[in-house]
Amino acid sequence: MKKVLITEFMNLNSISTLKKKFKINYDKNLWKDEKKISNIISEYNGLIVRNKTQVNKILLDKAKNLKFIGRLGVGLDNINLNICKKLKIHVQPATGMNADAVAEYVIGSSLHLIKNISLLHNETKKGLWPRTSFTSRELKGKIFGLLGFGTIGKKVCRLAKNFGAEVVSFDPYISPTVQKKFNIKLLKFNKLIKISDILSIHLPLNNETLNLINFKTFSLMKKKPIIINSSRGSIINETDLIKAYKKKLISGFALDVFKKEPVSKDFYKKIDSSINCIITPHIAGVTYESNIKVSDFIAKKLINFFN
Ligand SMILES: NC(=O)c1ccc[n+]([C@@H]2O[C@H](COP(=O)([O-])OP(=O)(O)OC[C@H]3O[C@@H](n4cnc5c(N)ncnc54)[C@H](O)[C@@H]3O)[C@@H](O)[C@H]2O)c1
Repeated sequence: MKKVLITEFMNLNSISTLKKKFKINYDKNLWKDEKKISNIISEYNGLIVRNKTQVNKILLDKAKNLKFIGRLGVGLDNINLNICKKLKIHVQPATGMNADAVAEYVIGSSLHLIKNISLLHNETKKGLWPRTSFTSRELKGKIFGLLGFGTIGKKVCRLAKNFGAEVVSFDPYISPTVQKKFNIKLLKFNKLIKISDILSIHLPLNNETLNLINFKTFSLMKKKPIIINSSRGSIINETDLIKAYKKKLISGFALDVFKKEPVSKDFYKKIDSSINCIITPHIAGVTYESNIKVSDFIAKKLINFFN
């Protein structure tokens, strides 16, 4: 019987399905102990991770029997894909399985921030009655800029249009057929950030996108946009983001992902109740429903792979 190691949380029904076919070692906290994973990985033919387990050279050098890595999510930046390719290890993301969850997070955050809900809530909770202190705005008629028009970008586009927003995108890799199908304007990067009222990031983290949104980019934003990052932390320079907010270059932000996770104390010390923001612990793609979909998908792929 093939052996499979699962180092982060997975839906228990999917694990039961896998137990009928494989010898499973499931420990949802094992990702915290890199040394232990490296010590035992040579026994395993399959590995299932989320984004916390670092599938790096040290681990892969010891993974003598590993043939399949299932990723319970989509970003693959915690997996050394070059080494996996050389070692002929199949890497399987759960493409699209948590896209609805992320898209809902983006729309929810946009509405929350454009209407200043956190600020109003904080003041009202203090016993104040701030009916005129903050002006709420509507999503209808706003320009919703999407950096990246892949699986999640497309879902956000559909939802944003339902609210009457105009959707524009920067993604040099999408085809004219897709552009036509979604009826969106594709713009150059500088133009997009200049005209967007809401700017939501849906890019992979790579050499091109690392630190893409920095103080210089914030300075080009003319509409004081709401910034939403549910992709990968290092795409936005977090120090510059706070500076841009304080200088009123942007009017709010939602961050679900951070350069360092859990987020560093230095960062959240800078977040006080006067800032129009939402910060969440990398949960945009994690819902009850998406956990089932992602886990089922990877379990099926693993079974088919070894069949
Ligand atoms: N917060 C969460 O819980 C969560 C959940 C799922 C996905 N994510 C992250 O969301 C991001 C988007 O995921 P997805 O499934 O939509 O990915 P995707 O691969 O389907 O789409 C990414 C898009 O970005 C475009 N792109 C790539 N490089 C680019 C560049 N340099 N400039 C402009 N466009 C570029 C691609 O052409 C593609 O259309 C990823 O970073 C993923 O890791 C986060």
